[in-house]
Amino acid sequence: MRFLITGAAGFIGSNFVRFMLDQYLDDEFVVLDKLTYAGRMENLEDIAPRIEFVKGDICKREDVEKTGKCDVIINFAAESHVDRSINDPGLFIKTDILGTHTLLEYARTIDVDRFLQVSTDEVYGSIDKGSFTANDPLNPSSPYSASKAGADLIALAYYKTYGLPVLITRCSNNFGPYQYPEKLIPVLILKALKNQPLPIYGDGTNIRDWIYVRDHCSAIDRVVTGGSCGNIYTIGSGYEKTNLEIAKMILKFLKKPEDLITFVGDRPGHDFRYSLSAREMNLLGWKPQYKFEEALDETISWYVRNEWWWKPLTNPH
Ligand SMILES: NC(=O)c1ccc[n+]([C@@H]2O[C@H](COP(=O)([O-])OP(=O)(O)OC[C@H]3O[C@@H](n4cnc5c(N)ncnc54)[C@H](O)[C@@H]3O)[C@@H](O)[C@H]2O)c1
Repeated sequence: MRFLITGAAGFIGSNFVRFMLDQYLDDEFVVLDKLTYAGRMENLEDIAPRIEFVKGDICKREDVEKTGKCDVIINFAAESHVDRSINDPGLFIKTDILGTHTLLEYARTIDVDRFLQVSTDEVYGSIDKGSFTANDPLNPSSPYSASKAGADLIALAYYKTYGLPVLITRCSNNFGPYQYPEKLIPVLILKALKNQPLPIYGDGTNIRDWIYVRDHCSAIDRVVTGGSCGNIYTIGSGYEKTNLEIAKMILKFLKKPEDLITFVGDRPGHDFRYSLSAREMNLLGWKPQYKFEEALDETISWYVRNEWWWKPLTNPH
């Protein structure tokens, strides 16, 4: 099988290609990535000889066509940072919605077996109790999550209207190696390593369901092979933590004092809690393999070992 993986020079996509190369020796992987600030060839360095890389924009049909015929398209490419979406919503609408539309149109012309749209728990908004399931109403709060919701709806329309074999996954917050140091866990790790204040929004009580990136990768693999087209799959780990708990765990592992924690003004429209059911995924035979604490320790150790990777991305002070 020949896979087109978009956005795979970013955090989850690069982990996904690495995961797939470990499992499937005979498949081919073409990566299409624009190499924005978040996409880096360093993320693919160890696997570069085993993939075909095309530098290009998912919004441009001529770039997408350079990837050739493939059997499966998995779309990770997106602008993905909520804070950036508050400052520049237009870029998110363009990349996440119009880019997905360009890929769907292309998928139609090459007659793919599967088109998997990688989405997020954020499309449902906040939930005080219980967990969202696939067909709960969309209620996004940020330009980022609204753009992702828009992309999901267009993808589903292509399933209903044209019979394109679309699948959607909506996963909770990922962490692990190669995550750009603007997202919570790498920010906190790198601040702690440099003995700098750890910024925590509001009072730190916001809750997220945290999943180790390799568990997200195995879930996507499961949906591509066993999922039913037209369906949405929610992928939660069940490891719900407050931001404050995460900061304390990181400081404890690195043997740093808790008084490094600094509370900062809250993000506008900050959702309080995200939680997703994994019931449909369990029915497909998937469950998370990694325990939260062990995966967090492994992630911290990865950042400690791989200063070459993050040093160029952080200011020298
Ligand atoms: N990080 C999470 O916790 C999380 C959780 C659930 C879902 N998701 C979704 O998973 C996907 C990947 O997230 P991530 O955290 O790896 O993001 P990321 O920001 O690390 O990577 C995004 C990648 O997309 C590329 N890209 C951006 N615009 C592009 C364009 N126009 N054309 C081609 N490539 C482009 C970037 O260069 C980068 O390599 C996103 O769709 C995101 O919405 C992320």
